[in-house]
Amino acid sequence: MTEQAMTESAMKEQRNDVLKCTALAKSFDEGPQELKILKDVNLHVSPSERIAIVGASGSGKTTLLQLLAGLDQPSSGEVLVCGHALAHMKDREQNRLRNQHLGFVYQFHHLLPEFTALENVSMPLLLRKGMSLKAVRQQSKQMLELVGMSHRVKHKPAELSGGERQRVAIARALVTQPDLVFMDEPTGNLDPNTASRIHELMTDLSRELTTSFIVVTHDMAFAEQMDKTCLLEDGSLVLS
Ligand SMILES: Nc1ncnc2c1ncn2[C@@H]1O[C@H](COP(=O)(O)OP(=O)(O)O)[C@@H](O)[C@H]1O
Ligand SMILES: [Mg+2]
Repeated sequence: MTEQAMTESAMKEQRNDVLKCTALAKSFDEGPQELKILKDVNLHVSPSERIAIVGASGSGKTTLLQLLAGLDQPSSGEVLVCGHALAHMKDREQNRLRNQHLGFVYQFHHLLPEFTALENVSMPLLLRKGMSLKAVRQQSKQMLELVGMSHRVKHKPAELSGGERQRVAIARALVTQPDLVFMDEPTGNLDPNTASRIHELMTDLSRELTTSFIVVTHDMAFAEQMDKTCLLEDGSLVLS
């Protein structure tokens, strides 16, 4: 490859990055002293790439995901989501960017208790507006089917098991066909058998959909199935 072709291909790759962060740092004020949680985090995520983040409890994994999603502000450094610098966007623009490009799954499902599984999954599409109710229902039902929950569409979260709730939460995260899904210990609250079934589901889904995943996990066997595993240690991410 000529040097020019190489530069062009590097530039193309950069443009296509689903997420990129450079020299990301975050400190919290703890009285007189400053708590430096993240010091120099660099990461880029390509389309369909699946990345596991591992690290000790308290090492800053949740803080990092919050920064990458624009839900908290870094002390310094930059985050680009699909080429857009979060720091330069107004709240409303950030919300739209999140709704269009990102999905989230947390340790606890965060489903709305008074709504059914189908209604919960429909929510991100309803927030988008401009889609007919019929289309919203159809797309949401399809996603529930994909996660193996089509027999529970009318159940409310309290009427579902822990594993079933996480399946619904995954369907909700994926229903908008996001470019990137963040998962923060999505199986941390489940028994090992249920957790491994959810891991299988996530592996299948990431193969089927062209979605990138960043998953915080303690499960090394699952982390090894991802494309890349990064260890968050002493405020930086290192490939492990
Ligand atoms: N808003 C905050 N104010 C002060 N300290 C915080 C805040 N959020 C997190 N921390 C501290 O930052 C560290 C990393 O937290 P967290 O990102 O939740 O770790 P992890 O998800 O890896 O367990 C912890 O020591 C935590 O107490
Ligand atoms: Mg955490």
